[in-house]
Amino acid sequence: NKETNMLNKDFLWGGALAAHQFEGGVLDTTKGLSVADVMTAGAHGVPREITDGVIEGKYYPNHIGIDFYHHYKEDIAMFADMGFKCFRTSIAWTRIFPLGDEEQPDEEGLQFYDDVFDELLKYGIEPVITLSHFEMPYHLAKEYGGFMNRKTVDFFVKFAEVCFKRYKNKVKYWMTFNEINNQMNFVNDIYGWTNSGAHFGNYDNPEEAMYQCAHHTLVASAKAVKIGKEINPDFLIGNMISMVPFYPYSCSPKDQLLAQQLMHDRFFFSDVQCRGHYPAYALKMFERKGFNINITDEDKKALSEGTVDYIGFSYYMSNTVDSNSIRDVSTTTDGSSEHSVKNPYIKETDWGWAIDPEGLRYVLNQFYERYELPMFIVENGFGAIDKKEEDGSCHDSYRIDYLRAHIEQMKKAVEEDGVNLMGYTPWGCIDCISFTTGEMKKRYGFIYVDRDNEGNGTLERSKKDSYEWYKKVIASNGEVL
Ligand code: BG6
Repeated sequence: NKETNMLNKDFLWGGALAAHQFEGGVLDTTKGLSVADVMTAGAHGVPREITDGVIEGKYYPNHIGIDFYHHYKEDIAMFADMGFKCFRTSIAWTRIFPLGDEEQPDEEGLQFYDDVFDELLKYGIEPVITLSHFEMPYHLAKEYGGFMNRKTVDFFVKFAEVCFKRYKNKVKYWMTFNEINNQMNFVNDIYGWTNSGAHFGNYDNPEEAMYQCAHHTLVASAKAVKIGKEINPDFLIGNMISMVPFYPYSCSPKDQLLAQQLMHDRFFFSDVQCRGHYPAYALKMFERKGFNINITDEDKKALSEGTVDYIGFSYYMSNTVDSNSIRDVSTTTDGSSEHSVKNPYIKETDWGWAIDPEGLRYVLNQFYERYELPMFIVENGFGAIDKKEEDGSCHDSYRIDYLRAHIEQMKKAVEEDGVNLMGYTPWGCIDCISFTTGEMKKRYGFIYVDRDNEGNGTLERSKKDSYEWYKKVIASNGEVL
């Protein structure tokens, strides 16, 4: 059906980034510090340190990022040249409310996004905006405990309202919280911190603390959706889920059931955000574990009134679980559970992320069968070490192979399985700072940026081979791969 397949002329091809990973402009503007601005650089297997404020002598890669703040015209011109129909980024909460609890927003910050959106719209590129992509004001995390505190719900909703009102004629596509479900791994500090400004390990029962915090984020998301639709009924407001499907390692019923139960962790947030209420398995689990989560009647009403219009999700990899195996997940960043094992049928990236294009078709079907809502693949990509040649070229055929294979599966899901897909924005369309490791050398871009792990380099931009390839993909609406 040409009406609904991805060859529809409105399919949103583009690229995705997040403010904290590429904007820079942290210390030389009115922007306040975010939770990401107090994270040092790590490496594969070496966690990023979360420091108590900015400590002199330590390196914080996000402070400069790739300095989009001062290069946005040049970068957007390259996105336009590639033919982007949309560009996904986030609004740094701390440019609008530097501390998070101010009465009035910051005009310099608001103006920056007016300038960015105007520049995008000049080329006919639709902004796709995440309100919170691991960028909560540090002040809210430090002084209020982030989303452990109900007050943070109001601070977030106020921030959302200011953005919706200011950009109501420039931005149509929104998402509330990026990868809201990362915090389900409540033993790796990076997730609670970046999702919710919380250290779950500081509480008597970290898992219970995580669910309380999660509840507050869910209420904040629902309230924002409701207000957004009142401000402009034409807005399309989605959620954003990190979808790493769990496969059973064997055909033993135990493994089947384990994978199914663990998928509850993947669907918990989207179940609430799409259906407007808590799923039965979660309520039973709270009861079984004796969790006392404060969910008021007013909260329930808010959840039911703020369901999302579409499902935004990231897909990088799948994960495989074996009921006979146990591991520690306090430093893993590959979506692992305590029962994860290597999948013998699947190769991995240098960072241990399973390369599984068919998994993308699998999750598109899983989401669609569950909710029958439109979907938007807002992240997918290949983090790799690239080599820039003397002549400035970069031969990233491995990246092209990865993306081609995933686009093929995405097309099958649309054309053969009939899922409703709005668009595709590969992650890190221009090289940026890695979220999980803080490295620069884990690159995803079509555009190479001259900067290294220690912050050296000219910041000069140059095209990789994947740049011209993706340009043809977009121009042919996915026909030429
Ligand atoms: C997602 C995040 O987890 O994956 C992005 O939404 C992140 O912020 C991306 O950058 C890739 O992860 P990494 O660690 O390779 O940058």
